[in-house]
Amino acid sequence: MSGAIDSILVEKRVFEPAPEFKAAAAVSGMEAYQALREQARRDPDTFWGDAARDMLVWRKPFTRVLDESDAPFYRWFDDGELNVSENCLDVHLSNGNADKPAIVFEADDGRVQTVSFRELHARVCRIANGIAGLGYRKGDRAILYMPMSIEAIACMQACARLGITHSVVFGGFSTKSLHQRIVDVQASLVITADEQMRGGRAIPLKAAVDEALAGPDTGRVRQVIVYRRSGGRVDWRDGRDHWLHEIEDGQADTCAPVPVEAEHPLFILYTSGSTGKPKGVQHSSAGYLLWAKMSAQWVFDAKPDDVFWCTADIGWVTGHSYIVYGTMAAGLTQIVFEGVPTYPDAGRFWDMIQRHKVTIFYTAPTAIRSLIKASSAAPETAPANYDLSSLRLLGSVGEPINPEAWVWYHQHVGGGRCPVVDTWWQTETGGHILAPLPGATPLKPGSCTLPLPGIEIDVVDEAGRSLPEGKGGYLVITRPWPAMIRTVWGDAERYVKSYFPPELGGAYLSGDSAQLDSDGYCWIMGRTDDVLSVSGHRLGGTEIESTLVAHEAVAEAAVVGRPDPVTGEAVVAFVVPKDELPGEADAPALAGALRDWVMREVGPIAKPREIWFGNAMPKTRSGKIMRRLLRIVAENGEITQDTSTLENPDALNRLHGPY
Ligand code: WT7
Repeated sequence: MSGAIDSILVEKRVFEPAPEFKAAAAVSGMEAYQALREQARRDPDTFWGDAARDMLVWRKPFTRVLDESDAPFYRWFDDGELNVSENCLDVHLSNGNADKPAIVFEADDGRVQTVSFRELHARVCRIANGIAGLGYRKGDRAILYMPMSIEAIACMQACARLGITHSVVFGGFSTKSLHQRIVDVQASLVITADEQMRGGRAIPLKAAVDEALAGPDTGRVRQVIVYRRSGGRVDWRDGRDHWLHEIEDGQADTCAPVPVEAEHPLFILYTSGSTGKPKGVQHSSAGYLLWAKMSAQWVFDAKPDDVFWCTADIGWVTGHSYIVYGTMAAGLTQIVFEGVPTYPDAGRFWDMIQRHKVTIFYTAPTAIRSLIKASSAAPETAPANYDLSSLRLLGSVGEPINPEAWVWYHQHVGGGRCPVVDTWWQTETGGHILAPLPGATPLKPGSCTLPLPGIEIDVVDEAGRSLPEGKGGYLVITRPWPAMIRTVWGDAERYVKSYFPPELGGAYLSGDSAQLDSDGYCWIMGRTDDVLSVSGHRLGGTEIESTLVAHEAVAEAAVVGRPDPVTGEAVVAFVVPKDELPGEADAPALAGALRDWVMREVGPIAKPREIWFGNAMPKTRSGKIMRRLLRIVAENGEITQDTSTLENPDALNRLHGPY
């Protein structure tokens, strides 16, 4: 771990579950939580085996729960077979949910469209029949590059129904990232839309796909399916491109789900790691779905008439687990929102909660912080102007929620009566790992509390030794769990190297630092690698650095995160130009050009907020860029530590910016 870990502020407030909430909860009281935890610890095979039999429908029952013989390549329920889409949709046709709304979709412009489980099932079947009609089969891979929509969810489910492994690329990523992923997963199918609508603006998607497919190594892609969202103009390649509505047209409303092995890859999702290239996190079918469903039921205390709204995009794992799979398998009615929280104004979320009578609201700290700011700037958009009495539970995900934002969320959105579940997890974990059970766990603002039953964690030092309470260290997960990452797609060695370093004796390295308090509550302190968290999105510092260095004007670059009250971190880049250092007059133009470059190459979310220029980067004698010092510069701080051990201490004084 680089540098000392600062001690985090000690938050003393504790919020016990309200007696009525506790009484009605599925897991009620800490004794119930402890009992589940004990049960899982004593006999994990029975715990997970029973859960998998109770909660999932199998086509071929499994006889083994966990195969550890090739650890860390764990196999769960591996001689069993099932179909994920059958478990998310067909099961609801005969359990009383058929006519219940599965999705209430609200478009950017406010148009609302509702589909029941029966209708969604039929839609998924028609799409699956259409995709199968184009010749796609189990084992193929599809890239999805789509806006938030019923269609996108239906396409993911249709892939799952056919055993096609999907990889969703967030619509905010650029052509370049899209191309990289199409090549890496060796996709033969791409599903996209003409455009996406955000905040009243149309953003082309199909055009980006066309550009990506014009790039090298994309020859496997035979077909592109296009959902007509906006009616905007698109270029068309006959024979390759198909409208979604045309391939659906005339198809049967039923489609036999294709049974797949438990370990069959349901999806691959790319995430930033500590080296340049994003990693394709490969998830399983059975273990993943089991935990996505179980954790959804536990952590959100799901009830049959809940209206659940997760504001995440389906391009992130949160959207996979708590929109498309876990919550759908749990039979929840869900709100799906196309737009942005600030359009037409910053009251949009509260207005939607009021109109749709949302009972469970799950969002990110960055959204909360930006809405706090907006509601003080424009008080008419504050939550107090809306009737939010339908809410009974609030959730947070993506980054640490600072206690002030937690308390605001609890008071102003939750009216002081809704538990706030702060859920810590990762793309790699598939589902929640540390999170309160709202009818049991006393809450401490800023802490993601305790591991869920079945999950074992620890905080350790570099040598893998457990650290005492109050000491910061590496957060690790010490036992395998069903929804864990199976491998890095196409790079098993990287999987082992990134997540199972030998010092840890088999434990999974999360990449986060944390400390436990005297109640065993976990306080996440941040990443231990160069991964930045901007608006809850994980960005690889090295990835942005490599992109900057690929620009013709750049010789060297370093990227750091500067704490930001709204976005968590802001990207700050330090650049050594190839040619002469720009003067104050030229620096803004070069900074602008570099920003546009990063936006085009990686995507708008990676665009540096500030750029500094220098003749050289401050380096250690072994040639490592001292990002720790750059971070201080980025914060406009004073460098007090001794810099005489640097190769070139002078480099620091010559930096100029920010631009
Ligand atoms: C990283 C994972 C989890 C789905 C969305 C992000 C940070 C996530 C919390 C939380 C503190 C959190 C961690 C983690 N993170 N949730 N509740 N408290 N930090 O998935 O893109 O894979 O990012 O997000 O640093 O490692 P992801």
